[in-house]
Amino acid sequence: MILQAKQLELVPHEPDPTNRRTQGGISTADVVMSAFTGGNADIFPQILDLHVPDGARIADVTYGTGVFWKNVDLSRYELIFSDIATGVDCRALPYASESLDVVVLDPPYMEGLLRPNKEHKAGSGVYSAFREYYSNGDEASTGPKWHAAVSDLYYKAGAEAFRVLKDSGIIIVKCQDEVSANRQWLTHVEIINHYETLGFYTKDLFVVVRLNKAGISRLKKQVHARKNHSYFLVFVKIPKGKKRSSMRG
Ligand SMILES: C[S@@+](CC[C@H](N)C(=O)[O-])C[C@H]1O[C@@H](n2cnc3c(N)ncnc32)[C@H](O)[C@@H]1O
Repeated sequence: MILQAKQLELVPHEPDPTNRRTQGGISTADVVMSAFTGGNADIFPQILDLHVPDGARIADVTYGTGVFWKNVDLSRYELIFSDIATGVDCRALPYASESLDVVVLDPPYMEGLLRPNKEHKAGSGVYSAFREYYSNGDEASTGPKWHAAVSDLYYKAGAEAFRVLKDSGIIIVKCQDEVSANRQWLTHVEIINHYETLGFYTKDLFVVVRLNKAGISRLKKQVHARKNHSYFLVFVKIPKGKKRSSMRG
């Protein structure tokens, strides 16, 4: 039986005078939320505000065209940027061990863009700029293929970030799940599981919902939901000698 509140006999709640606690803080709705609708350039500054202190030394190792930084006040941080397109592989960074506060990682997240043969890559014709943007330049590679190539890049870049980050340093990872070879791959779950084995603590997760609606060419029967969301994951390098179970914040 479902009762409406007015059908119940309500007993007024008397506060217990012996149970008074003084709590600090302020009441506000001005907080950073875990899900956003919009573009990376709108969201990224909020993630920095929440997780990165002013003065931090940050390496964006897949800088691309720098969209993430469009709305960031760069006077607040020391930003070093690189990309495979300018000769720096995120799997072999030119930085000393334990020299950075933050690494930002946003490599290609679709296996179609990491195929060994350039002619077989997804995104041809009018999408070729997109294809260039997401390529990792590994066309001649004999390494992992298909979705495994995506995970492998995230895993190796994560291990390299772990090397260059100071204790308690942060890595902000952008990723998106994908359906490849008609199979669902929850890339964000794979990354979280793997990064935890590297020695990172998963501190936060943001969901970004795209505003525009992507069309599908040659649709026969829809099998999986078309993805219109991606993630920012925030990991902390667990300091030496500290247990994962003791991580707070
Ligand atoms: C999704 S885009 C990054 C977009 C970027 N966050 C921005 O704000 O413009 C992926 C980038 O990863 C780069 N990339 C691919 N493989 C790489 C690698 N092994 N090392 C470094 N950069 C790589 C590509 O050249 C491309 O610029």
